[in-house]
Amino acid sequence: MQNVQNYIKENKQRYLDELLEFLRIPSVSADPSFTADVRKTAEFVAHSLTKAGADNVEICETAGHPIVYAEKMVNESAPTILVYGHYDVQPPDPIDLWESPPFEPIIKKTDKHPDGAIYARGSCDDKGQAYMHVKAFEAMVANDALTCNVKFMIEGEEEVGSKHLGIFCEENKEKLACDVVLISDTSIIANDVPSITTGLRGLAYVEVEVTGPNRDLHSGVYGGAVANPINILSKMIASLHDENNHITVDGFYDDVEVVSKEERKAMNEAPFDIHEYKDNLDIFQVRGEKGYTTLERTSIRPTLDVNGIWGGYIGEGAKTVLPSKATAKISMRLVPNQNSDQITEIFTKYFESIAPNSVKVKVTNMHGGEPAVTPTDTPEYKAAHKALETTFGKAPIPQRSGGSIPIVALFEKVLGVKTVLMGFGLDSDAIHSPNEHYGLFNFYKGIETIPYYHQYYAELKK
Ligand code: BES
Ligand code: MN
Ligand code: MN
Repeated sequence: MQNVQNYIKENKQRYLDELLEFLRIPSVSADPSFTADVRKTAEFVAHSLTKAGADNVEICETAGHPIVYAEKMVNESAPTILVYGHYDVQPPDPIDLWESPPFEPIIKKTDKHPDGAIYARGSCDDKGQAYMHVKAFEAMVANDALTCNVKFMIEGEEEVGSKHLGIFCEENKEKLACDVVLISDTSIIANDVPSITTGLRGLAYVEVEVTGPNRDLHSGVYGGAVANPINILSKMIASLHDENNHITVDGFYDDVEVVSKEERKAMNEAPFDIHEYKDNLDIFQVRGEKGYTTLERTSIRPTLDVNGIWGGYIGEGAKTVLPSKATAKISMRLVPNQNSDQITEIFTKYFESIAPNSVKVKVTNMHGGEPAVTPTDTPEYKAAHKALETTFGKAPIPQRSGGSIPIVALFEKVLGVKTVLMGFGLDSDAIHSPNEHYGLFNFYKGIETIPYYHQYYAELKK
């Protein structure tokens, strides 16, 4: 292991330079005008896996963006780790709010990252974190220190709902056969408070459209006599939460897992500073479901949020118009035992039921994913615990996250394997936001920790 760690130290600068090159390719999966760049990024990943020493490196075509696969089988009797990550990124919008261009990475020091952080779209989510696995793998191969078989599956559609990954897994069960899926695409509590993510929320995402008159109308000639779809939609959305911030959709909470008092107590003992949280966001007060703490609201409780809303005239100046349509995108984060299709169905029914007769309503299902919780009493988890304890010098805290990686539930269903979520980002790294960044400390800590994971996992699995 010392050889591996020395190799990492000696190659630190090159590792960083390569990551910066990776970050310069704008792999925005949501926007078709970036399709060629997304493919270039897949080629970059494939090439770096080949250089690192992987075998059978493939760019697997799908009906959407390609999946990069690679492997290194060292010993039939050793356990197999499947590393999953994504090379696609969120759109950089709103671009004006970036202090430096999103695809021209620069390094800046911040309060949270006194050693410097890499500012670029995808630096933390997930190029920087996926690349840690490639570099740790390179160091293990170079020193003949692989203790486990390794397979890589790095996809290009995570940020748009992993549409084609499910089919790929179904069709390649044997190729993807493994003992554990290892993912770095989540956060730790702080750089001096290591943690392991033990849960992810699911997601049900819909678009709702409210239509009034068959065309935009003069708001003076018709205003007051014809339903305004924006007024109606706003009212409908406002009614989706009650005065206690409970979601009003009939049956929404029916299947929600009831977390025990003990578990809730343990959850709230995790270090969390509400003042720092509010300061960081420039808010005077938090707001959420009555009866739950901020940590609970963002992990064990489901939510409903509008992600975007539009209609009518939004250009310069004023235009007097009574619009024909109003639209909103709504996401619901789900917790264990809720099912995304079922929630979409009951939401649709409810939303249609609260619409007045003066408008028509259409609800479109965009995408969904199921929640996941990972056990902590397995060799898979214990190896991560031990690895983080070794490199941070502190035992990591198990913590459920509010984010979603829908493919985790699918891995369990299709491949029959559990996932370990060993991420190294910080919640304050601004993923999906302008000025996304990833700490150099975090990047290197990840690379240093991963080989220990492989070592301890092989030992614990014996
Ligand atoms: N890496 C994130 C998920 C995440 C972030 C989990 C931080 C835990 C902590 C992932 O790339 C992501 O953004 N997922 C989407 C869902 C997807 C279907 C678009 C999300 O959570 O919104
Ligand atoms: Mn991600
Ligand atoms: Mn993301």
